[in-house]
This record gives sequence, structure tokens and C-alpha cells, in this order.
Amino acid sequence: MTDATDRPDPVEGTDPAPHEAATATPARARPAATAPDRPADSRTPRVAFRDARPPSGVPVFEVGGVSVFYGDHEAVRDVNMTIENRQITAMIGPSGCGKSTMIRCFNRMNDLIPTARVTGKIRYHNEDLYGRDVDPIEVRRRIGMVFQKPNPFPKSVYDNIAYGPRVGGFKGNLDDLVEETLTHAALWDEVKAGLKRSALALSGGQQQRLCIARTIAVKPEVILMDEPCSALDPIATAKIEDLMEHLAQEFTIIVVTHNMQQAARVSHRTAFFTSDIDEAGVRHGRLVEYDETARIFSNPSDQRTEDYISGRFG
Ligand SMILES: Nc1ncnc2c1ncn2[C@@H]1O[C@H](COP(=O)(O)OP(=O)(O)OP(=O)(O)O)[C@@H](O)[C@H]1O
Ligand SMILES: [Mg+2]
Repeated sequence: MTDATDRPDPVEGTDPAPHEAATATPARARPAATAPDRPADSRTPRVAFRDARPPSGVPVFEVGGVSVFYGDHEAVRDVNMTIENRQITAMIGPSGCGKSTMIRCFNRMNDLIPTARVTGKIRYHNEDLYGRDVDPIEVRRRIGMVFQKPNPFPKSVYDNIAYGPRVGGFKGNLDDLVEETLTHAALWDEVKAGLKRSALALSGGQQQRLCIARTIAVKPEVILMDEPCSALDPIATAKIEDLMEHLAQEFTIIVVTHNMQQAARVSHRTAFFTSDIDEAGVRHGRLVEYDETARIFSNPSDQRTEDYISGRFG
């Protein structure tokens, strides 16, 4: 059973911590390292971090000098980072610093925005993700995405899951796949009696787990999540966080969140972005610091990170 102390106290300006939900959700068996005490004036409470997972040593993404432009505006400038297999990476930072822009680079979603242009290199398993012979549709199958607002198809629960595999020519037993996938997404027990009901009749939290299930039904390797819990209540949020922890056994996850406690709870590594203004007075998003989550939240090396996580900025 999860120990309620495993979750941090609520902090002003972020979602409240789901204490109640913690006891009702699956076990978090990990031994949690406790962050060192923070200064008394800090608004960031002591949090129990995820135990740092030893680096797998297998890079999934290697990002080199990536900038993203919308028309002439360089929204994100010169990002360098490596994301390893089966780690949860959180991307945090103030509104407008380019987190969504950056996460969309990982599955070429920016291709769908006519004015967007990505420069620099993103290597995915050592292949150029933006190479001429790379099919963006296949990229998005292997690198799935879950959005802020749950967006199930206006179809039955069953068809939401079955859609991707059917389109992909799945030849096995679809009923089994649907059950297996919904079980994996911790939703099966709640929906098994109503698989033919509209997905739109589910609660917001159930819809978000359905969207995660829909994403994993096509057997991706990576799941990108852009603020997946921001439309959810604390109980639904706790379920998604537990699910992420479970999914990280198998998938590489990148998650954008405004909830710093969520970043601290779920991620192994955290990337802090901010935006700064250049000599010409133009604002660009920058990656300031990228490190193990416990280090970012307890002993960041950049003052801007410290200011942000302690609530003095953003
Ligand atoms: N489709 C677009 N067209 C033009 N500019 C865009 C587009 N999407 C984002 N931008 C600009 O890029 C910059 C970064 O935006 P982005 O949405 O990536 O920030 P964010 O960090 O995700 O913010 P938030 O936390 O509010 O979601 C902003 O200046 C924004 O106005
Ligand atoms: Mg965003």
C-alpha cells in the first residue's frame, strides 16, 4: 500500500497533492530518497523524489543544437539534451518558454504547423529523426503523444483502442488486445462492463487513461505527454502518475508539467526551460538546466532554476 507520506504537501501555485488518492492507488514500492531541507523562505516543500534510476546508457533521443522557429521567430534556441531509454523526463518552466514546442519536436508534430521549422539535429536511436527517408506517420506510431485535454475519438471505448491496431493491419485477436491494453492502462475494471459505450461518457480522468491506452495499443516505444493532468482532479492525477510509473518499466516517457511536485514525484530527470530576451529584445525559450530530478529540486546549479523551483519567478 502506498504510504501517504510518499506524496509531498501541497504548495501554493501548484495543484494540491492527492493525499487521499495515494492510499487508494497501486503501491509505490520504491524506497524514496528524501530531499535535503530547503531554506525556510522557500515555497517548495520537501518532496520524496523518485529513486534515481541508473542510467540505461541507451540513448533514445540525442538533441543537438535544436532551434524551433515559427516564421521568423526563434521560439526555442539551441537545445542540447540526451534522453535515455525507460526514463521519465520532465520538462518544466514558465508559460511560453517553449516546452510544448520542444516536446512536439520529438515526434515531428511541429511538421503539422505550417510556419514551424526545426533546425539542428534530433537523432532517434542514432537515426536522423528529420531525415528525408523517415516517414513522419511511422515516427508518430513509435513515438505516441497524449495531450492536455483528453481527446478520445467519438467512438466506443472498444473502438478507441482497436482503431490504431486495425489501421496498422493487426492480425491477432482484437478482443484480447483491447483487454490487455486497458488492463495495462489501469482502466479495464472500470470499463469492462461498458466497452460499447461512448468514450465521451467517461469521466475526464478515465478519458485520459483511455487516451494513454489508445497510445500504447499501437506498441510505441516513447510516450510524450504535454500537461496530461492539468485538466484532472487530484485523484485522477494520482492514477495517471501511478500509471506513468508503471509504464516507465516498458516505455520512455517525456512529460511537460506545470506542477513541480508532479515533476519531482514522477520523473527521473528534469529539464528546466525558461525564456530570455536577447540583445535585439526578442524572447527565446532556452534549456537552462537538465539533470537528475533530485538534483534539480534540491541543489540546482543555475540561479534561474533555483528561483523558479522556489517560486520566486514564473
Ligand atoms: N503555432 C504557433 N505559431 C506561432 N507561435 C507559436 C505557436 N505555438 C507556440 N508559439 C510561440 O512559441 C513560444 C513557445 O510556446 P509554447 O507553446 O511552446 O510554450 P509552453 O512553454 O508550452 O507554454 P505553456 O506553459 O503556456 O503551455 C511562445 O512565444 C508562443 O507564442
Ligand atoms: Mg505548452
